[in-house]
Amino acid sequence: GPKFPQVVVLFGATGDLSRRKLLPGLYHLALAGFIPGYRIIGVSLDEHDADSFRAFTRKALDEFSGRPINEADWSAFAETLDYVPLSAGAEVLKAAVARAETALDGETRRLHYLSVPPAAALSVVRLLGEADLVERARIIMEKPFGTDLASAVSLNARLHEVFTEEQIFRIDHFLGKEAAQNILAFRFANGLFEPIWNRTFIDHVQIDVPETLGLGQRTGFYEATGAFKDMVVTHLFQILGFMAMEPPTSLESGPISEEKNKVFRSMLPIDPKEVVRGQYAGYRSEPGVDPLSETETFIALQCRIDNWRWAGVPFFLRTGKKLAEGQRIISIAFREPPKSMFPAGSGVGAQGPDHLTFDLADATKMSLSFYGKRPGPGMRLDKLSMQFSMKDTDFVGEVLEAYERLILDAMRGDHTLFNTAEGIERLWEVSQPLLDEPPPVRLYAPGSWGPKSIHQLVAPHAWRLPF
Ligand code: BG6
Repeated sequence: GPKFPQVVVLFGATGDLSRRKLLPGLYHLALAGFIPGYRIIGVSLDEHDADSFRAFTRKALDEFSGRPINEADWSAFAETLDYVPLSAGAEVLKAAVARAETALDGETRRLHYLSVPPAAALSVVRLLGEADLVERARIIMEKPFGTDLASAVSLNARLHEVFTEEQIFRIDHFLGKEAAQNILAFRFANGLFEPIWNRTFIDHVQIDVPETLGLGQRTGFYEATGAFKDMVVTHLFQILGFMAMEPPTSLESGPISEEKNKVFRSMLPIDPKEVVRGQYAGYRSEPGVDPLSETETFIALQCRIDNWRWAGVPFFLRTGKKLAEGQRIISIAFREPPKSMFPAGSGVGAQGPDHLTFDLADATKMSLSFYGKRPGPGMRLDKLSMQFSMKDTDFVGEVLEAYERLILDAMRGDHTLFNTAEGIERLWEVSQPLLDEPPPVRLYAPGSWGPKSIHQLVAPHAWRLPF
């Protein structure tokens, strides 16, 4: 954990992310004893005081912490909570931080967590400058970071007027998932896989993250964001970076970012003709949604990485809300063998190519599926699989939820699992043709796999899901 006690200033403290992940995550980190001391100051547009914010937090923990709350633990945690409405301004915020620091005594650090929409990020950064809360501070910026290339460039420039790059942590919680880091272990700790990790052996890759959930109370945020900015330019592209990068010279943040950024530089601009945007039927009549909304709740697209390793290997990405299943898989389809002696009708190839699949679920799963012989006379083939599931291991140890892991890393000043300005700007640049000319949204039925045209997008390949 971090060496020094932390004053966490949580902007967007009453928002959805804060309720679901950040407050429960901070509670868990505090309880697990990873942080030597802490105070948390909630800030948002809502008019809370410290007591009503405590009540709000308690409710969030009851609902989302995933375990029963112990009353003694809770009162210790509750005591560390304070609240400042955003409208109170710089001086009041500064005083609240000073109070928190006095309560902690000794050397302390500040962690500003900006869980606010892109349009609000800049004014919060300015506020922090005005309140003189920059020294001894680190700042976590939530995604999406900007809304296009120009806004990301300008946000980075403004941010650098107040904070140094060392202080800035651009978060992408998918990189905090155990399973995402397992991609690195899998690829670079084994002799078996890396030699075949290229265009000679791999036919195509799918990164597929369908979700069953709808938007709940998030329509206000989502209307201005949509599936591409919410999920693709952020999480899915970052995962693509881990899948496609060259071996870094070491596991430190510099070399990892460098290799990921090289992948991003090799990506061809997205061709809007290779994108399917969808919207689930009924979205337009949800509260907070424009009845003529063109916001996509679904997106599928093809990405091309134009380098020696990946030239000609399509990466298909898909994600959306209110789909048939919740999954987070990366699936690698291998090339067909050059020649087959198995007769037609034997079943060879009938269930698609052989595959390696990563499941980014909280408990990592990986499987290798391949053709093998069915028992019995003759040669009939079937798809078999070798599987690993973290759930079935007797591995014990503290498993940190993605946000918890990343908050802890930021408190320790470790940038390894965070994004650089350069990488993010490049991803917006790659995305610009789609932002400029988005294809029209196509309706899909809630509970389906998206609009029908997703099949044409990947033809002659097929979507790996549903299994
Ligand atoms: C968030 C998006 O970043 O990631 C949400 O804003 C999405 O729309 C969520 O549902 C998915 O994260 P996870 O960890 O549940 O797969």
